[in-house]
Amino acid sequence: MPAQLIKGAEVSKQIREEITKEVEELKEKHGITPGLATILVGEDPGSKVYVGQKEKACNNLGIYSARTDLPADTSEADLLDLVKKLNDDPKIHGILCQLPLPKHVDATRVIYAIDPDKDVDCFHPVNVGKLMIGKGRFLPCTPNGIMELLKRYDVATEGKHVVVVGRSNIVGKPIANLMLQRSPGGNATVTLCHTGTKDLAAFTKMADILIVAIGQPKAITADMVKEGVVVIDVGVNRIGKTPEGKGILAGDVDFDSVQEKAAAITPVPGGVGPMTITMLMKNTVEAAKATISD
Ligand code: GUN
Repeated sequence: MPAQLIKGAEVSKQIREEITKEVEELKEKHGITPGLATILVGEDPGSKVYVGQKEKACNNLGIYSARTDLPADTSEADLLDLVKKLNDDPKIHGILCQLPLPKHVDATRVIYAIDPDKDVDCFHPVNVGKLMIGKGRFLPCTPNGIMELLKRYDVATEGKHVVVVGRSNIVGKPIANLMLQRSPGGNATVTLCHTGTKDLAAFTKMADILIVAIGQPKAITADMVKEGVVVIDVGVNRIGKTPEGKGILAGDVDFDSVQEKAAAITPVPGGVGPMTITMLMKNTVEAAKATISD
């Protein structure tokens, strides 16, 4: 029987309605409008699309959006000056510098320069450290989106074996950490697989919940999973174009074959993707709330 679809697009819509109400309340009760600053350096077409989506989401939810587009040859010093200005700007509660940055800029230095209280990406080492010890002020957007999907689809995690494929700082490492925290939505046994893993299928076949974030289209096939697995596919890979010129997307999981064995699965598009920006909006509102003085 085909798997239940975990529809991130629908959940995302629900959460955005909740956020809109929170934003209205913040404005009415506290006179605070949450503000997100986005920084885009250069002309990368994918990054432009993502930053545009973030700006649009802010506008739709009543969040103030301050976008700065800079040329690709912007110096690191100028970028650091901008971050400092935004750190000091009371209208700005969240700062997001879109990655990747041009090669001549040290992205680590830029991330370290962001005030941890405004680090809505949760990339600053202070926030990464807090996440590790279960005291996260912000949760990173994609992992938090995954947690929210599992929660809203009543997927039990306690005592389950979660296998994560991919060890990126943005998805793999933080989601593995969140799933093992001793808290609701976590308390799982976690295995983290990566390019150094020998016999990947031996691990993926053991998964009760399989989370894949490797950027390789259809890499996980039906023979690599067990019956009844819950599959979270983070991959968004462009694999061609329709005759009309529209991009064709595929996840990291071979959806057609795996859905025949899985109990539930996220589609691509419409699964994890829409959750990421929604959780960014949520973090921005949380950052604004944290400035309320009693
Ligand atoms: N580039 C790709 N994903 C992200 C993200 O989540 N945050 C930032 N800042 N840059 C990205």
